[in-house]
Amino acid sequence: MIQIRKAGEGDVARIAELEQKYIECPWSEAVVRQTLADELSTIYLLCDHETILGYGGLKMVLDTAEVYNIVVDETVRRRGYGSMALEKLLEHAIENGAREIFLEVGEHNEAALNLYTSHGFRISHMRKNYYKSGNAYIMRKEL
Ligand SMILES: CC(C)(COP(=O)(O)OP(=O)(O)OC[C@H]1O[C@@H](n2cnc3c(N)ncnc32)[C@H](O)[C@@H]1OP(=O)(O)O)[C@@H](O)C(=O)NCCC(=O)NCCS
Repeated sequence: MIQIRKAGEGDVARIAELEQKYIECPWSEAVVRQTLADELSTIYLLCDHETILGYGGLKMVLDTAEVYNIVVDETVRRRGYGSMALEKLLEHAIENGAREIFLEVGEHNEAALNLYTSHGFRISHMRKNYYKSGNAYIMRKEL
């Protein structure tokens, strides 16, 4: 049974490991630590007992929320865990007064684009050459 909890100092290494494995411009341990120390930022972990299978993070700025990343370990994808993480971030954003939420996603990242679209995000605009691998879409959802 998967549980969701807030990340803390003891989770830095695992988050950085998942970043390294699955994200094109990964956060270092130092950046993860800084993010956890930032009172506007929150990272939720997807856990199976002691095992961290993924996470989702966001930052609140006034009435706007920004998703940092959602990552699910490749061994457990397509089981709804990415959706669980995203729904937790949406709930957090609403509870903290956000009226809209943004994120960036690679234009060829079909899994993430489908995940976000199925939760009501729509493409707002494109950032050209944002990633080494190409353009990024900025997606937005009203809350
Ligand atoms: C994107 C990611 C988080 C999805 O995690 P997940 O646990 O597999 O997602 P879910 O099982 O909740 O899937 C939700 C929906 O997303 C879409 N989706 C997920 N994986 C997909 C794939 N490989 N191809 C197409 N659509 C996909 C589907 O619409 C899916 O709904 P369905 O299973 O009912 O068809 C995961 O693929 C991942 O970690 N990717 C690498 C990191 C990354 O790129 N993160 C996004 C950065 S912006």
